[in-house]
Amino acid sequence: MKSSHILMALAVVLPVTVAGAAKKPVKLTKDNIDQVISQMTLQEKVDMVVGNGRSKIVNGAAGYTPEIERLGIPSTIFSDGPSGILIDARRPGDDHTYYATGFPTATVLASTWNPETVEAVGAAIGREALDYGVDVVLAPGINIHRSPLCGRNFEYYGEDPLQVGKTAAAFIRGIQSNGVGVALKHFAINNQELNRCAADVRIDQRTAREIYLKGFEIAIKEASPKTVMSSYNRINGSFACENRAMITDLLRGDLGFKGMVMTDWGAGVDNAAIINAGNDNIQSGGAKRKKSVLQAVEDGRISMETLDAAVKRVLEMVVTSPHFDPQYVPSQSPDFERNARIARAAAAEGIVLLENHGRTLPLKPCRVALFGSAAYNWTPCGLGAADVHTSHTVDLVEGLENAGLWPESGVKKAYKAHLEGQREQIETLKKAVGHWRGASVRPSEIADVENLAKASLENSDIAFVVIGRNTAEGIDHVVDNDFNLNKDEINLILSVSEIYHKAGKKVVVILNTCSAVETASWRDAADAVVEAWQGGQQGGNALADVLTGAVNPSGRLTMTFPVKYGDVPSAPNFPVVAVGTTSNPSFYNFDEKPRYDIKDIDYVNYEEGIYVGYRHYCTRGVKTAYPFGYGLSYTTFERKVDAVEVTADGVKITVEVKNTGGVAGREVVQLYASAPQTATSLDKPSRELKAFAKTGLIAPGASEKVVLEVLKDDFASFVEACNSWVTEAGTYILTVAANAEDPGESLEVRVSTERVRPCKASFAPKGRLYIK
Ligand code: BGC
Repeated sequence: MKSSHILMALAVVLPVTVAGAAKKPVKLTKDNIDQVISQMTLQEKVDMVVGNGRSKIVNGAAGYTPEIERLGIPSTIFSDGPSGILIDARRPGDDHTYYATGFPTATVLASTWNPETVEAVGAAIGREALDYGVDVVLAPGINIHRSPLCGRNFEYYGEDPLQVGKTAAAFIRGIQSNGVGVALKHFAINNQELNRCAADVRIDQRTAREIYLKGFEIAIKEASPKTVMSSYNRINGSFACENRAMITDLLRGDLGFKGMVMTDWGAGVDNAAIINAGNDNIQSGGAKRKKSVLQAVEDGRISMETLDAAVKRVLEMVVTSPHFDPQYVPSQSPDFERNARIARAAAAEGIVLLENHGRTLPLKPCRVALFGSAAYNWTPCGLGAADVHTSHTVDLVEGLENAGLWPESGVKKAYKAHLEGQREQIETLKKAVGHWRGASVRPSEIADVENLAKASLENSDIAFVVIGRNTAEGIDHVVDNDFNLNKDEINLILSVSEIYHKAGKKVVVILNTCSAVETASWRDAADAVVEAWQGGQQGGNALADVLTGAVNPSGRLTMTFPVKYGDVPSAPNFPVVAVGTTSNPSFYNFDEKPRYDIKDIDYVNYEEGIYVGYRHYCTRGVKTAYPFGYGLSYTTFERKVDAVEVTADGVKITVEVKNTGGVAGREVVQLYASAPQTATSLDKPSRELKAFAKTGLIAPGASEKVVLEVLKDDFASFVEACNSWVTEAGTYILTVAANAEDPGESLEVRVSTERVRPCKASFAPKGRLYIK
């Protein structure tokens, strides 16, 4: 009995020895990743680098990496996004609900110019991720607002790379403080939605480095994101995600990124090229992509070394993820009350007061005649990956009522009836174009607004006119009836203004938009103009906080509001195609081979170069409606340079900010640099933002000091000829200002010797860039 038992045991052990895998089965730890990889089958490795659609554990989460039980590898879950956790709120056969907090959209966060606030929001989103079993949040999106027409601007931060990079770093620090990772996206130069999956961005290296990659560089250096998401578009002829110079040489080499790179969902076409470029995880993957990666390894187009390197970076992400802890059990119950408070405070801080004549705002409790279909059709957030399934949104009407600003019932009733009358038609239209594209379908305005306004005069103290816009991932804005207000909206503002002004009452225009819109032609008719953006689920309360003065506005624009669309530097090279011409604008002209048929759709010439946003308007003296960095307060401030300290690496400037008005408020101090102008110096914008700081709440008459630091390296421009960052020697003028056009207070600093920092990567092609 005893001997036969031993024989049987031998019989079990022997075949394994013969197969050469007698190594002790290992379970993944932080220190044995290579050993675990050595025990993985080819299929397991492929499963680790190619996704498999949406998560089945956290319903609605965009992707995951699979569990391999025998090696102790847990599944990790990826979920969007920039305004909160995007998962299904309900699960079949489950009574529990999985709503998430809808935080203010990215543009609002950036408009706070307050890294502390952004970090607090990031921390709250990271905490909800942890509560719901999400390991990686697919955010922040930091593509530059190249045009006010980009449909995803609400998911992005603004037009300046330093402001974008610092905001992103704060957001990442917040999320990752929970042990949850981020996917910094979309790498890179992905600035339009039309044909986003295939459009070829034609760009020079200097512009790419200084404008479109700088924010990534700052965020990577300051916050070490766990993952980066490569983008859909092509860059100078090849897909961003298939381009080794971009992903390996530039992102990992020059920018120093150490983590895992995943593709955007469905990006690229050549799976071997995607892995060989340096991506570690193809999302959303699927059986076909897995098969093609497996095939490519078998026939040698992907080397085992390359595959193992990708698997290793995926496992490095896994071992630092919440699910790697066997004790981790998601609570499934976020602290919604606390998160709502954080969301409300951030949304209020990002609101930008554009006009406030005769101290129209703030308001005491009063009766408000609330005009505009958008007032009763409030938009908390755009659609797509940045959407959030919230249990409740405090819209404008609810927010106003909570604050004692009572919407006049006659006007309210008229709009409710007006919207109800179009409900079916709107729903049919939305259905016809699909959920995301439906975002741009808006109800019309009331035709006879004059009589409504006259009738409301008696029962109201002030009129609000609300103009709303919405958009979604996959679609861009258009100029007419979108960036430009349509004639009914203009008529609405002008008529209400005339009628209310005649009666000695004031008019406030509220913008519930996701990006800059035209304001110059109608703003004089308003006593106050407030850019409320899309403030998330607490947006109505946050706006009421600002309107009543519970919060003194301190948001500043992170993008220029141009006088007219034609002034936008990218306007000659940005698609202007009316919505309705194609069923899915993301794939407008998608083709596996690059196509160069249609300008701005198949290929996009970034001919404005580094002159994006205020760099263009300031340098060329083009008048703007509201400059970058602009925003009013209910108080006034004086800024004074208090001390200048030259350090080994740069200069520290202490600025004293004094509240010279009557209420407590916060100021944003901005520091711009003007480079030396000599015959040999580089062509540079007249001003570039180099640092900023936000004060705390300063009481009337009190002061606060903030310190702004600029390093020598921060003055550098990218010189393509030597593939280097070069800080030219000479005298730089630093200006402490309230916005990009404010003359401010200037001082000079001298850089005595040139400094050159060579880069390794360069991406093809040089030479002929723009296709005419
Ligand atoms: C978007 C990404 C998003 C991903 C997963 C893509 O369509 O471009 O931003 O993270 O989907 O939802």
